[in-house]
Amino acid sequence: MDIKNEIKKRKTFAIISHPDAGKTTLTEKLLLFGGAIREAGTVKGKKSGKFATSDWMKVEQERGISVTSSVMQFDFDGYKINILDTPGHEDFSEDTYRTLMAVDSAVMVIDAAKGIEPQTLKLFKVCKMRGIPIFTFINKLDRMGKEPFELLEEIESTLEIETYPMTWPIGMGPSFFGIINRRDRTITPFREEDKLTLDDDYQLAEPHKIEADSAYRDSIDEFMLVEEAGDEFDKEKIAKGDLTPVFFGSALSTFGIEEFLDTYVDFAPQPTGRETTEGQEIDPTDDDFSGFIFKIQANMDPKHRDRLAFMRVVSGKFTRGMDATLARNKKKSKITRATMFMADDKETINEAYAGDIIGLYDTGNYQIGDTLYSGKKREYVDLPQFTPELFMKVSAKNVMKQKHFYKGIEQLVQEGAIQYYKSMHTNQPILGAVGQLQFEVFEHRMKNEYNTDIIMEPVGKKIARWVENEEDIKDSMNSPRANLVYDRYDQQVFLFENDFAMRWFADKYPEIKLYSLL
Ligand code: G4P
Repeated sequence: MDIKNEIKKRKTFAIISHPDAGKTTLTEKLLLFGGAIREAGTVKGKKSGKFATSDWMKVEQERGISVTSSVMQFDFDGYKINILDTPGHEDFSEDTYRTLMAVDSAVMVIDAAKGIEPQTLKLFKVCKMRGIPIFTFINKLDRMGKEPFELLEEIESTLEIETYPMTWPIGMGPSFFGIINRRDRTITPFREEDKLTLDDDYQLAEPHKIEADSAYRDSIDEFMLVEEAGDEFDKEKIAKGDLTPVFFGSALSTFGIEEFLDTYVDFAPQPTGRETTEGQEIDPTDDDFSGFIFKIQANMDPKHRDRLAFMRVVSGKFTRGMDATLARNKKKSKITRATMFMADDKETINEAYAGDIIGLYDTGNYQIGDTLYSGKKREYVDLPQFTPELFMKVSAKNVMKQKHFYKGIEQLVQEGAIQYYKSMHTNQPILGAVGQLQFEVFEHRMKNEYNTDIIMEPVGKKIARWVENEEDIKDSMNSPRANLVYDRYDQQVFLFENDFAMRWFADKYPEIKLYSLL
């Protein structure tokens, strides 16, 4: 098969949402549609909320499947669709953000009763920064929720993105009748089999008793208003992430899913290229294979050091047994063990194409952000660093183990598992993370891989801000509420106690230009 054709068939996206909005349910229904699974309940790992955070090891073991279910491929309408999971709850970590670097579009799931929630907002911002298309699925229409206009308004004002409803709900909760499909002016009823059709005057082509229902008439009026006064459909704006197509449905009832998928495959982008450190944009259809690593899943079994490195194939075709060079150290090796993921299974693969995500067995050779290539030399730009929110002082329990301790920190930091800071005067190591899980993984790996017990002392939640004009920083600006530390590149960073402390500082020292990472 022609490489170009294979690549054209690929669509790779992540689902972003706040816990409980219905991400797992939607994923499962998409897989059902794609025939990748036969029954609901196959995608596990969503109930991690039941466990205390310190139980993460147990959680990982019990659900076992979490690795495999973090990337899944299914077929729909001739396309090969890759869904990437963005772990939430206490699994939230920098990996969650980095996953968004490996996709070409995102699907945002919103609970109709709750609207935009904090985690959705965080993940959305990363998608927006990348300028990738964002599709919105407003879920749980079978329950009472906010009014559709209110939800669109909330999306537009909170996220600063235009909306274009592709479907429009008729009623909600007990009176949910169905959705109007804007593209073909049909109505898909929630509880009935047959579709209804609307004519140009918004009248039903065939009479139906629903016409007597006032909620129905209200929804038709709203729909007319959307058509007349809403944002224009604009493919280019969708492609840039400036306008989001919006769908209404109920994942649990497998309702509105097909309408979503049909439109998604029409407007979601094919695999896009990536930029190299030399500023060159590599096209996915480039003859040479290349890709970058965006996540490393450490083995949970302490007896085995091997890990799984997740790679986004950026260009060309991957073939099992091929030679690839690691750009960081120019070492060439044969890739003999690679896997791809199905819903409840992972299988060894023989080939993959640009757009696909593959898992490479790793005995400690890879780091997050690494490029692998065959043929022409290339190296992709580094993955961004994200602003951590949680901090922990860390030290070795046994002072005799300082060497192991620092080696462990250095490697885990390089690998992207955690961020490293140190205090101004005492050089006390401080770890930074976006999610609590990162600390737990760090502690576990220090013990198991570097044989070092550590002591961690929470510094708590802080707002980290870097400084554009470091030369203007004075020692006197350092205080417990605006604590000055160094990052791993020896840049100075203020850790503010809270928003108030940051504003107070900005007022007092207007000459200091603060900025955050992503
Ligand atoms: P998440 O991955 O985003 O965290 O959400 P998940 O799919 O686990 O869904 C969270 C809860 O919302 C689940 O209920 C799920 O059944 C429910 N849900 C998902 N989609 C819909 C929908 O369209 N309508 C309604 N009414 N509920 C929906 P739960 O009680 O927490 O779990 P379960 O015991 O039902 O599995």
